[in-house]
Amino acid sequence: PRKIFSGIQPTGSMHLGNYFGAITQWIDLQHKNEDITVSVVDLHSITLPQDPNVLPKSILEMTATLLACGIDPNKSVIFQQSRVLQHTELFWYLGCICTMARLAHLPQYKEKSALLKDVLLGIFIYPVLQAADILVHKATHVPVGEDQIQQLQLCQELAQMFNKKFGTVFPIPRTLLSEKGSARIRSLREPSKKMSKSDPDSKSRICLTDASDDIVKKIKKAVTDFTSAVTYDPESRPGVSNLILIHSLISGKQPQVIVEESQYLDTLKYKHLVADVIIEHLLPIKKKIEAYIANPEYLDQVLREGSEKAQATAEETMVEVRRKVGINFLE
Ligand code: TYM
Repeated sequence: PRKIFSGIQPTGSMHLGNYFGAITQWIDLQHKNEDITVSVVDLHSITLPQDPNVLPKSILEMTATLLACGIDPNKSVIFQQSRVLQHTELFWYLGCICTMARLAHLPQYKEKSALLKDVLLGIFIYPVLQAADILVHKATHVPVGEDQIQQLQLCQELAQMFNKKFGTVFPIPRTLLSEKGSARIRSLREPSKKMSKSDPDSKSRICLTDASDDIVKKIKKAVTDFTSAVTYDPESRPGVSNLILIHSLISGKQPQVIVEESQYLDTLKYKHLVADVIIEHLLPIKKKIEAYIANPEYLDQVLREGSEKAQATAEETMVEVRRKVGINFLE
């Protein structure tokens, strides 16, 4: 049977890239009654400095957002990474079979470290913890956006290396990318880049919790090009095509149909239309997020119960891992 696992960092609000690249996939899988576990990966988020007074709120807000999007704790497991110590435990075992040269090769590390004077160890070994997240649950499929492909390749390699060295424990997890271009939603300010939480320009992304007037402002300011017709061509017109893609994902209409319906609009009028479509789609989700946030005790309970379930699965794997490695000789 398939075992699906994925994670999201709790810092920064969820944006449309996360939503269409990952979360809507998770909800679809949940609807198909797949066995899905999702983690709020707080340990990953502290690879960049976080304010200890703000972090707990961020964790609760991300949990609220996931529930508002449709993750159902009665069908899926949703938990907080740091509460399941087996993640950090397996991380160490994997760290002992992973070379530094391999990690230094990863593009996300190269990008992030290039901007920093002193590179913290956490940023460097981040992908090993991510591999542990997946493998400790013996996941077979990992639904993510395109930016995670290289990290998942590392995870597959580490699973193979471990299995070869110590005997088979882990299935080799497969990457599940969502279709229709949604695996990569672009920045509204620089369409050559992906929409990202860490972009210092907040106009580059639409967050699920954004106020309606902010959404209008951000979409109006979205970089397009000097052609005023509305046409879909992600290669030569990435800016306007990104808006059409978002519109298409919300409405379920093919990009070509949207283009035909918009043939009498220029890009500015079309932007107003897209902004309205986004606002209308996000409104009910935003209301649910607010309602969940108003009930932190409930959110804490969801995370606690989820973490207990996740821990039970993870401990089963670790019993096997410890025995294979030769640490636990009496079991
Ligand atoms: P994070 O928190 O950056 O992003 C969460 C998910 O959103 C996807 N995503 C996008 N998809 C399409 N277009 C975009 N512009 C876009 N931006 C983000 C990401 O691909 C991701 O699926 N390292 C992970 C968290 C993680 C994880 C894991 C994921 C930790 N352990 C184990 C899977 C399995 C991350 O930083 O995601």
